[in-house]
Amino acid sequence: MFRFRRYRALLICAFVITVLLYHVSKNSQWDHSKEIWHPEPKFRPQQPLNNQPNPDRDSAGKAADGVKVPTKTQTPPKATQAATVPDRKLPSNHDGTQKRPVAGDSAGEQQDQDAVPTSTAIHWTKPKEWFPIPEQSLIMLPTGTPKRIPTIQFAFPKESPADKEKREERLAKIRAETKRAWSGYRKYAWTHDELTPVSKRAKDPFCGWAATMVDALDTLWIMGLKDEFEEAVEAVKDIDFTTTPYREDIPVFETIIRYLGGLIGAYDVTGRDPKYRSLLDKAVELAEILMSVFDTPNRLPILYYNWKPDFNVNPKRASTSAGVAELGSMSMEFTRLAQLTGKHKYYDAIARITDAFEDLQNRDGDTAIPGIFPENLDASGCNRTATRLQKQAARDHVEDDIWPPSPAGYTGSDQDDAVADDAQSKARPGRAGAPYMYSGFPEDWDCVPQNLTGSSSYASGAGSYSMGGSQDSAYEYFPKQYLLLGGLVPKYRTMHEKTVEAVKEYLLFRPMAEGDPDILFSAKAYSSDGTAKQLSYQWEVTHLTCFIGGMFGLGGKIFNRPEDVEIGKKLTDGCVWAYDVMPTGIMPEYATVLPCKDMTNCKYDEKEWYKALDPNHDIRDRQAAEYYEKLAQWKQEVERLKKEHALQKQAAEQRRQSEADKEAGLQRRDVDDNTAATSNVKRTESRDSLGLDSSNSVPEQKQLVLPPEPVKPESHLEYVTNKITREHIPSGFVSLNDKRYILRPEAIESVWYMYRITGDKSWQEKGWRMFEAVIRATSTEVGHSAIHDVTATDSEPHKDDSMESFWLAETLKYFYLLFETPDVISLDEWVLNTEAHPFRRPT
Ligand SMILES: *[C@@H]1O[C@H](CO)[C@@H](O)[C@H](O)[C@H]1NC(C)=O
Ligand SMILES: *[C@@H]1O[C@H](CO)[C@@H](O)[C@H](O)[C@H]1NC(C)=O
Repeated sequence: MFRFRRYRALLICAFVITVLLYHVSKNSQWDHSKEIWHPEPKFRPQQPLNNQPNPDRDSAGKAADGVKVPTKTQTPPKATQAATVPDRKLPSNHDGTQKRPVAGDSAGEQQDQDAVPTSTAIHWTKPKEWFPIPEQSLIMLPTGTPKRIPTIQFAFPKESPADKEKREERLAKIRAETKRAWSGYRKYAWTHDELTPVSKRAKDPFCGWAATMVDALDTLWIMGLKDEFEEAVEAVKDIDFTTTPYREDIPVFETIIRYLGGLIGAYDVTGRDPKYRSLLDKAVELAEILMSVFDTPNRLPILYYNWKPDFNVNPKRASTSAGVAELGSMSMEFTRLAQLTGKHKYYDAIARITDAFEDLQNRDGDTAIPGIFPENLDASGCNRTATRLQKQAARDHVEDDIWPPSPAGYTGSDQDDAVADDAQSKARPGRAGAPYMYSGFPEDWDCVPQNLTGSSSYASGAGSYSMGGSQDSAYEYFPKQYLLLGGLVPKYRTMHEKTVEAVKEYLLFRPMAEGDPDILFSAKAYSSDGTAKQLSYQWEVTHLTCFIGGMFGLGGKIFNRPEDVEIGKKLTDGCVWAYDVMPTGIMPEYATVLPCKDMTNCKYDEKEWYKALDPNHDIRDRQAAEYYEKLAQWKQEVERLKKEHALQKQAAEQRRQSEADKEAGLQRRDVDDNTAATSNVKRTESRDSLGLDSSNSVPEQKQLVLPPEPVKPESHLEYVTNKITREHIPSGFVSLNDKRYILRPEAIESVWYMYRITGDKSWQEKGWRMFEAVIRATSTEVGHSAIHDVTATDSEPHKDDSMESFWLAETLKYFYLLFETPDVISLDEWVLNTEAHPFRRPT
């Protein structure tokens, strides 16, 4: 019995390690890009989707509430470069040797060179639903007249002709840069996900469904690039969301915010013009695939969807370590889709996630900072601790218990039925078998249920809390969902209010820097025990967190919280400051600063900053003090040695003298017999033997060897000033951990919100400084590129050869909208998703 138990423990260990390894490999990026495209013999024809959406409820046939295409724009000439639309790309090599569309190429010619015959491609097929929601318990979109929501935008007065001229000049420059980047994409990366703007190639990190094209659609429309828009709409029709040669798993979050949001936003800005109906159809096509991720016992979604039929036919559970943002940033896209199609199932899918978040936010003890969530959540719905205890107890009573449970009975053609049977009778105790998960591992199916909770296994609520990457948009979506639902679901308001209260109390801080800027940032707090009693902090300044100024501003306006608007300004000014103080005029991806001890009364103290820059300042000062001691000792020693040496020299000199005298006596005796020449030789010889032969009675004259002089260590002050100069560290910054700028939008996003909310023109000036700095540092021949180091002082910063789709979707759009008239994408008519795709608010 004892041996058996040990064996069992080993098996459990092996299983855990295998699962861990599997997760590691599943989460690593490089893994996906290396995946080999192997044609499967059992070709499944692509199933036609039974998803013809209902006609628009609100706007069939009219395009009244779309965004007017600015008429001032000259429509770009239908030049030769726009002559042909290359065919939708087909799988290509991973070494970047994609087929490039060349102006004038005929589409037909291009097709077959690197084309993989479609008959060998594996396609997604709609799997059977394991955990369907009965029709009667579907959570429905709220009905009723939208609530009156306070006006968000400033009541802008009529502008002067001079102001108008300056503004339109800037608009034209932003539009020209956008056109340039779009043309580069069109020429070198058409239908691929991204342009690599230095090497002029393409890459496909997002399944190769033309991420940049879809993401940029509404930007093209808003900027009045009509021809470009039309061409892209045509190409989008050919995207096949049911297959990808690039990834085994669909990254659900990125796919929803970029593709689904992009298609819906583009359809919405056209005023839901029936002419562009294909955009909505395409969104539905994609959504139908993505709906499968919600088919779990607790209806919380899978975040990396193994879409291939071999995997997706099996039942699954959500992750035990899900990022808050990935879980929380689907609500707007599915809500808008439900509104546009009249299909409540899309709303139901995300309403359940919201309910789980609301429950967690209100549950005592599951989050260390009440109101916000630990960075990673266990969404599996399965309490493994409780399940293990339960099984243990059961085993202690059953003699012939077998571990691990035999997978027998779950093979072959019976598999589906067996699993279905099991799923239906989950509570049945004592089952020897367990269904195979999509991963191929047996899973504790009959597990003790639990609600959404923190991932930490050693103290619930332990972990990091921040508004930064992998958290951000979950919080951003609370007030935005409130707007999109016309204020009819009040929980989004309370969730937002709880969030900002927590941020204000625990995360906001003011950095200490030269000039005492009155700005704020949001830190990352870490709890080791699951409580807020002993939080440790990282005083971080991250580009991703810069969205938060806009969130405070927006929430402050719609929920009548003027203090939040003021905080929003200071948060936005924090990011503007981080741009302004860098040598390139651009904020880095990640840095840390020194916080003020007192937010209201904070005087710059250079000594404090220097100390923060040099955590070893004590050691350094001690070493400096020791150096002078050592130097004095060394000097003493040198004196002593020199003296000793001089004495030795003197003694040697005397001895030499007496030897010379002796020799002189000898010489006088020899002088009669020898010539002068021989006597000279002899004398030399005898002198040599005197000097060099140590066996001689006369002691050697030792060379003076001095000990090395102690090296002066850098003092604290020297170290810090050298470091500041060498690394170009602006005042107040303590570390520059990630110096890249990857064309991110969050800072200009908040600047735009501040401008539209306050009407203060200084925000336009701040934004223009940012635009000029960004264009100066990132421009390439055919587009714009992420740069490696925002502190670089050389005229050409190193480029990382990357232009993410959010550059066209978000960054350039926000720059543009900052100088557009405030009626274009007015915040009182539109609400933007986290990828800057505008959705129409209900009226
Ligand atoms: C899981 O079960 C354990 C043991 O019964 C319990 O202490 C814990 O609170 C449960 N966790 C959750 C999140 O329900
Ligand atoms: C789990 O969440 C549901 C609502 O989603 C709630 O009714 C229930 O009380 C929660 N359970 C626990 C243990 O908190």
